[in-house]
Amino acid sequence: MKDFRAAVAWTGDAIEIIDQTLLPGEERILTLRTPDEVVDAIRRLAVRGAPAIGVAGALGVVLAGDDAAAIERIASARPTAVNLRWAVERVLGAADRRAEALRILEEDVEACRAIGEHGRAELEHARRVLTVCNTGRLATAGRGTALGVVYAKAEAGEPVEVFACETRPLLQGARLTAWELQDAGIPVTVLADGAAPALLARGDIDVVIAGCDRVAANGDIANKIGTYALAIAAHHHGVPFYVAGPRSTLDLATASGAEIEIEQRSADEVATAAGARVWNPAFDVTPAELITALITDVGVLRAPLGPAIANALTS
Ligand code: MRU
Repeated sequence: MKDFRAAVAWTGDAIEIIDQTLLPGEERILTLRTPDEVVDAIRRLAVRGAPAIGVAGALGVVLAGDDAAAIERIASARPTAVNLRWAVERVLGAADRRAEALRILEEDVEACRAIGEHGRAELEHARRVLTVCNTGRLATAGRGTALGVVYAKAEAGEPVEVFACETRPLLQGARLTAWELQDAGIPVTVLADGAAPALLARGDIDVVIAGCDRVAANGDIANKIGTYALAIAAHHHGVPFYVAGPRSTLDLATASGAEIEIEQRSADEVATAAGARVWNPAFDVTPAELITALITDVGVLRAPLGPAIANALTS
């Protein structure tokens, strides 16, 4: 994979992000100098993706200094991805907050690399990958989780192409996944979310790989809305359904998917007819039984996922 600009970086006294609200039209760098600029960037998805908002949150704590209220605003800016509060709390508990935040960033880069390698070894014969949302270099400090597997395959010279669900309502698939894969020279086909079951029915997909925002202790996962529908369709058509994510997304404190707080977003993102009521969850929960395996930085975790997750967090 060619060198790329990181989605989130530390300049020494500020955070630089690629403003993802402007992609694919414009690649503009945004400099965040205050905790409330960090909160705003996370809330409006200028920086997004569970690992990337974790890293932004960690660095945001450095900007916040001793302002406890500002730190809490960062930690609660988006509720579903466990990485955000996990990273904030880790930095808060450290003697040297700046060093700890930078360690979280570096660990994310390395976790992406390891996920890619484990996924590549697991999915050696899979060429046609169906995915949802954006899980690549825009969603992490490194080269991504589910897309990290794709990049690892491409780097190893294995044939690989991606089918990207457009990902309503904010089009992270159509805008971001298509943009970064084209930039990397990897073939990508965008489809409407509702077209995915028909594509699976045609036998045109070897594997589905999704990312995750939180993995509960029993292996249920929360990820971008539409993931659950993909998992059901993959199960129906006998296509393996993998979930990729770093250990920072595994959450032993949440027993099952039923306990995961699902972020509700503004009605404006979906309503076109004035006055129509709107239900706009940003994420859904896919139960563990629909997941073939979890690809993590410490290896591929298989059913029963509960004990495998507990083991991964203590290894
Ligand atoms: O609302 P978003 O764009 O932050 O949602 C992101 C996702 O659902 C990703 O799949 C998940 O964070 C994993 S990113 C490696």
